[in-house]
Amino acid sequence: MNILILGSGGREHTFAHMIAQSEHCDSLFVAPGNAGTEMIATNLPVSVNDFQSIKAAVLENNISMVVVGPEDPLVNGITDFFKEDTSLKDVMIIGPSKRGALLEGSKEQAKEFMMAHDIPTAAYASFTQKSLAAGKRFLETLKPPYVLKADGLAAGKGVLILDSLAEAKNELENMLSHRKFGDASSTVVIEEFLDGIELSVFVLTDGKNYKILPTAKDYKRIGEGDSGLNTGGMGAVSPVPFANEAFMQKIKARIVEPTVKGLQKEAIDYRGFVFIGLIKVGDDPYVIEYNVRMGDPETEVVLPRIKTDLVSLLRATFNQELDTVTLDIDARAATTVMVVSGGYPENYEKGKVIEGAGSIKDSIVFHAGTTRKNGELVTNGGRVIAVTSLDNDFRTALKKSYQNIEKLSFDRMYYRTDIGFDLS
Ligand code: AMP
Ligand code: GLY
Repeated sequence: MNILILGSGGREHTFAHMIAQSEHCDSLFVAPGNAGTEMIATNLPVSVNDFQSIKAAVLENNISMVVVGPEDPLVNGITDFFKEDTSLKDVMIIGPSKRGALLEGSKEQAKEFMMAHDIPTAAYASFTQKSLAAGKRFLETLKPPYVLKADGLAAGKGVLILDSLAEAKNELENMLSHRKFGDASSTVVIEEFLDGIELSVFVLTDGKNYKILPTAKDYKRIGEGDSGLNTGGMGAVSPVPFANEAFMQKIKARIVEPTVKGLQKEAIDYRGFVFIGLIKVGDDPYVIEYNVRMGDPETEVVLPRIKTDLVSLLRATFNQELDTVTLDIDARAATTVMVVSGGYPENYEKGKVIEGAGSIKDSIVFHAGTTRKNGELVTNGGRVIAVTSLDNDFRTALKKSYQNIEKLSFDRMYYRTDIGFDLS
């Protein structure tokens, strides 16, 4: 069949890399894609939120399956758009309906979902401009640090963690009254701070059945030792060494099963990935957030460990027969290290010539922000390339990623040298 992947990052290059190997894939398209996807698929100059152009591309290229990479089109209702269109309704679109996407699109709704289905998460209350005074009083009842979350999508920047009460009150006011994150912060969720170590669990569900995919830990801060500004993610490791069998059993029983049952009880059409951001407090898992897509760069370590044909898995997801397939996971560890543009996550320049990407042989080079200009590979984003390696243990895999990164170069190239520093 012909398959279309929506998105342009390292996550989408990884999907393309896996899907291109499937015997069920005839022609592969990526919209809009990057210089990496261009080497293994046909890039289409279509934006992920332009549903009419996506429809035209699907019909023109006889596409039977669409894999939605980022959250935006899901929150904007692309799955419902396909379902409601007579010429698209049989296309296998992988990603939840608009209602399902609210698990990521609204922190408040996600919290309500967790409460309704008894899923462990931080205590919280939510506020709007009208209840600003009550929000400030609520902050006074909490111990620092204070966690403020814009309800809506804010490009990963909508969470503030503040040490002082005065600052927290001030930021609450900025969010509610001064639209710090635009409409996204017209409602703010204030949460109890949970102190522990984070990990992510990925679930593929058809709305009834589910498969737990490999765990991963990502490193979000720009600086060594998890310091400095938040980024989209600077590297990742899979599996997470401390997520042992006993802990995974807790995650399954307390979080994954109630989540899938909750979707079913609420009659939410959800055929896609659930990315559960967790924090381990003592020996217990709590949900920090849901995302309705795969993570980036977590995808770069999760998918390469899946041995089962990815297209078969996705087809079973759409057809709601995930119970009929077995998930086969590579026992080896995977690591990825993200190479970024100097200045990221603040201002950075694009268009820098990238050398050496073709000379890396024993790691996988996943392009994120790259493009081709006059035949040359150049940077085209903050996160530029993820170098993924597999080996028997994550330290050996990491060593490979770091050795291969040294073959890459571009002006003001930067990467963290301490991915996995907190793992033993
Ligand atoms: P989110 O966008 O919800 O993933 O939040 C961004 C980051 O803020 C998370 O990855 C955590 O590191 C941190 N965080 C969010 N909520 C909490 C919480 N309740 N307690 C402690 N840290 C949190
Ligand atoms: N790496 C975090 C995310 O994809 O949201």
